Amino acid sequence: MSTSHASQNLYIETYGCQMNVADSEIVASVLEEKGYKVVEDIDSADVILVNTCSIRENAEQRVWGRLDVFKQIKKKKPEVIVGVIGCMAERLKEKLLEEEKIVDLVVGPDAYRDLPNILESAEGGQKAINVLLSKEETYADISPVRLGKNKISAFVSIMRGCNNMCSYCIVPYVRGGERSRDPYTIVREVEELYQKGYKEVTLLGQNVDSFNWKAEDSEENISFAQLLEMVAKVSPSLRVRFSTSHPKDMSDDVLYTMAMYNNICNHIHLPAQSGSTRVLEQMNRKYTREWYIGRIDAIKKILPNCAISTDIMTGFPGETDEDHKDTLSLMEYVGYDMAYMFKYSERPKTYASRHLPDDIQDSVKSQRSTEIIDLQNKLSEQTKKEDLGKTFEVLVEGTSKKSKEQLYGRTSQNKVVVFPRHNYTVGDYVFVEIVDCTSATLIGEIVTK
Ligand code: 5AD
Ligand code: SF4
Repeated sequence: MSTSHASQNLYIETYGCQMNVADSEIVASVLEEKGYKVVEDIDSADVILVNTCSIRENAEQRVWGRLDVFKQIKKKKPEVIVGVIGCMAERLKEKLLEEEKIVDLVVGPDAYRDLPNILESAEGGQKAINVLLSKEETYADISPVRLGKNKISAFVSIMRGCNNMCSYCIVPYVRGGERSRDPYTIVREVEELYQKGYKEVTLLGQNVDSFNWKAEDSEENISFAQLLEMVAKVSPSLRVRFSTSHPKDMSDDVLYTMAMYNNICNHIHLPAQSGSTRVLEQMNRKYTREWYIGRIDAIKKILPNCAISTDIMTGFPGETDEDHKDTLSLMEYVGYDMAYMFKYSERPKTYASRHLPDDIQDSVKSQRSTEIIDLQNKLSEQTKKEDLGKTFEVLVEGTSKKSKEQLYGRTSQNKVVVFPRHNYTVGDYVFVEIVDCTSATLIGEIVTK
């Protein structure tokens, strides 16, 4: 092991999805191995890495804004290395080095093992880049350094890349094709987390339902439902969550596995994107409104206490008022507990950018988006009201921001609950009866069972 970096402080800033959060932990692990030390204070950094997202144009704008800030830091301290990693690094490649003189290195999502070499070049004054995508890389053997503040909940990446080719989406271009990680390394990582005191893991993939691992030297083939069961068996007191499910692939097997294990949380994030079959077809989502509704009905039947959240996109090319109404009526039908809602943003290279003109005026996108957000606020409130009087098992995550006397945690359904502290502490499971709610939070009292 090289010791030349023993004194180098590494600061990592992360944008984008949970997958990026997990990737930053892999990056930290690769570099700690070489003697770098992760710091939280940017002013003490020798190396600044920004892990980036390209999903919408505004995600990239935010990063350009941060690069301006890093420019000021570099003016005062020219020896600081600035690196752009992740999805935007993969999308823009050399352009980042050309357009932004302060950037010293560019590394894509499949090349993090090469970071020590790349940094060595950069430290020697040579700008460096590695944006090779891989068909195999899953970082299976790397034990991520946990950067999260709460030491009870961790992300575990189970697959990388995506094969779906939704017509609007940049992910397949910046993260490459889909690969499943060796499930035995996943279980080992989860066991280690549990031994360290972690109480919750979230299994991450762009489309977890298509997890499919084939052993090289036998006929063994492991599906997502099987993996979920293997992870659930690590301990009944370890909560298991997962994200993201794809409506076209979410099987009843997964739902029955969830029903069998109390520690697999009752929450499914099932992005609908649109409620119009015509738009779904243009998006290349490979399901219809009716199919989606069929999946929702299956969840409600097999898992009656399951919360459902979604992603909705508005203003996709050619979206009519009728299509928009279909989205609103789908939302009403499902009664989502939570939704992420986005305006369509055209992304270079995608099928939509090449074949479907971005023809919905921004004012129309905004109007529809407002209607979607208003409806979701109403639905979120309704689902919270339905929780009043019910008792939930809550995993304590921390002290409430508003009062030291109050703790907060989450229900299996992923809803935040605030309640009096008593003698409980982070990592405990407590039963809480819901007595009130605000727009974002449930408020409860501890009950002894
Ligand atoms: N424009 C707007 N939203 C997008 N998403 C993906 N691509 C785009 C795009 N080009 C949204 C989808 C996806 C979520 C992660 O981001 O809703 O589910
Ligand atoms: Fe995550 Fe997609 Fe953003 Fe990449 S582009 S960070 S995969 S949301």
